[in-house]
Amino acid sequence: MMDLVTHLSKVFEQAFEAEGFESRWGAVRRSDRPELADFQCNGCMGAAKSRGLVPRDLAAMIAEKVQGDDAIERVDVAGPGFLNIKVTSAALSRQAEAVRADDKAGGGTVAKPEKVIFDFGGPNVAKPMHVGHLRSAVIGDTLCRLFRFLGDDVTGDAHLGDWGLQMGHLITELLAEQPDLIYFRPDFSGPYPEEPPVTIEDLGRLYPQASAKAKADPARNEASQLAVAEMQAGHPGYRALLRHFINVSVEALKIDYAFLGVEFDLWKGESDVDQLIPGMVEDLKEKGLAKLDDGAWIIDVARESDKKEMPPFMVINSRGGTGYHATDLATVVDRVETLHPDRMLYVVDQRQALHFEQVFRAADMAGLMAEDRMEHIGFGTVNGTDGKPFKTREGGILRLADLNRMALEEAEKRIGEAGLSGDFGEEERARIAALVARAALRFADLMNVRTTNYVFDLERFTSFEGKTGPYLLYAAVRIKSLLRRAKEAGHAPGKIRIEGDTERALVLGLDGFASALEQSHAKRQPHILCEHVYSLAQAFSALYAANPIANEDDADIRASRLALCEAVLKQLEAGLSILGIEAPERM
Ligand code: ARG
Repeated sequence: MMDLVTHLSKVFEQAFEAEGFESRWGAVRRSDRPELADFQCNGCMGAAKSRGLVPRDLAAMIAEKVQGDDAIERVDVAGPGFLNIKVTSAALSRQAEAVRADDKAGGGTVAKPEKVIFDFGGPNVAKPMHVGHLRSAVIGDTLCRLFRFLGDDVTGDAHLGDWGLQMGHLITELLAEQPDLIYFRPDFSGPYPEEPPVTIEDLGRLYPQASAKAKADPARNEASQLAVAEMQAGHPGYRALLRHFINVSVEALKIDYAFLGVEFDLWKGESDVDQLIPGMVEDLKEKGLAKLDDGAWIIDVARESDKKEMPPFMVINSRGGTGYHATDLATVVDRVETLHPDRMLYVVDQRQALHFEQVFRAADMAGLMAEDRMEHIGFGTVNGTDGKPFKTREGGILRLADLNRMALEEAEKRIGEAGLSGDFGEEERARIAALVARAALRFADLMNVRTTNYVFDLERFTSFEGKTGPYLLYAAVRIKSLLRRAKEAGHAPGKIRIEGDTERALVLGLDGFASALEQSHAKRQPHILCEHVYSLAQAFSALYAANPIANEDDADIRASRLALCEAVLKQLEAGLSILGIEAPERM
């Protein structure tokens, strides 16, 4: 289906062309002044200027030209030559019917679908995830859903952090605790025992223990460094432990992500590209890009035009080890070879911007992928009420698992306060609370311009009032129960008629879905979609507050409003599902 903005733009573009102007002057958009008009076209001023005409005269000509279109009720010339457009009720009811019948609830597809890889989540094995990882997971998952909805071919990769010093810490700490493990025998070469030597609790304990010791004792840190270097060099026992650590971690991570509704297609990690590094290094040397500098192999990625300092890209450090730069570049090699992407998007904390600039430049110089096909989708920090990055009461970082649990408890409390789910069984109650908690956390994050910081406030996030996830769930559930009751009463939906201003506003809202999705996609900004979904829910609330729906006496009006409810619910649920939010049947 075509939305009204697109339809009107075509009509006005043709009118300008017919008068011998470029079609671009005919672009139409929603009116800034909804009390005066539904849409506006501002092209007359610019077009007239290009010919030395009086803008208002041209505007009058264009207004005359578009008269025949059946979506247009009236076009007024205003101010210096604006065109204010009001659409017909028939056109609005046609649009609402189309949304109701459309699989995508009025959302379109991108003009040129692409094969896109999203690198997001980025959890580190053994190191607990913190609120920053929440942002990457939620924003990344939402963008994957959005791109997929609009027709792109999307692969989401968790890109585990499993190659750094934390692995060395785990190994040395485990060695201190259980020196008899078979992995530590000098002659260990397999077979690889299936039973993991550690649990997730062990990992959660070993890492902080080791990192505290390493901070206090440089020799202890050196031991971990050595252990990673040996692991990277292929030590069979350490490699086997690495595999165990990854498996145990991933199992636990999947639980935290499932709570948030976050899904990945691939669970690859830094360690997966290890075997590609030697070949990559050879290639970089052959191309003359990697140069020996003080015992390390580096690529100079600086440019004359750089305004800021651009440190070199580190291929191999002076210890002979590989780090974050090398694994990221080798991951580009892997993805280009196996998935042939048109584009790669990295959803990672804004503070890593320099790292990605270096990686993208190196990938471009190496001929792997053009720089403008790789994007760093940065985001701001989650702060406490004191304006500083969020910490627990004890001053530590908040783990994702704890955060999820806190959100769940708060959601349960709110459901109780609101007097909801009175007569549901245990199981349904628990499911509703989980959906409310997920909606709260995700929407609170996604509604912000992603590069800004936001204040973490669970009480506000879980409220059923205001611009929150739970408010949106409530709006969707209200429509569901209304439709259910109407069905029970034998009332069927019918032809949609536009009776009053609240209906007009609601249908104009519905009609804005495609462009909200398109902009959200173009800017990689989920908040634009959040804004749309929220204002749709509000426009529905306004209709609901002002008019009876299921209790309307006039059968035609009732049938029309019920059909409108169905269209709104369909779009609301489509929008929410892109945001990774699911509404229960009742609550
Ligand atoms: N594991 C990293 C961290 O916790 C994030 C990984 C981001 N993705 C990447 N390809 N570098 O900071």
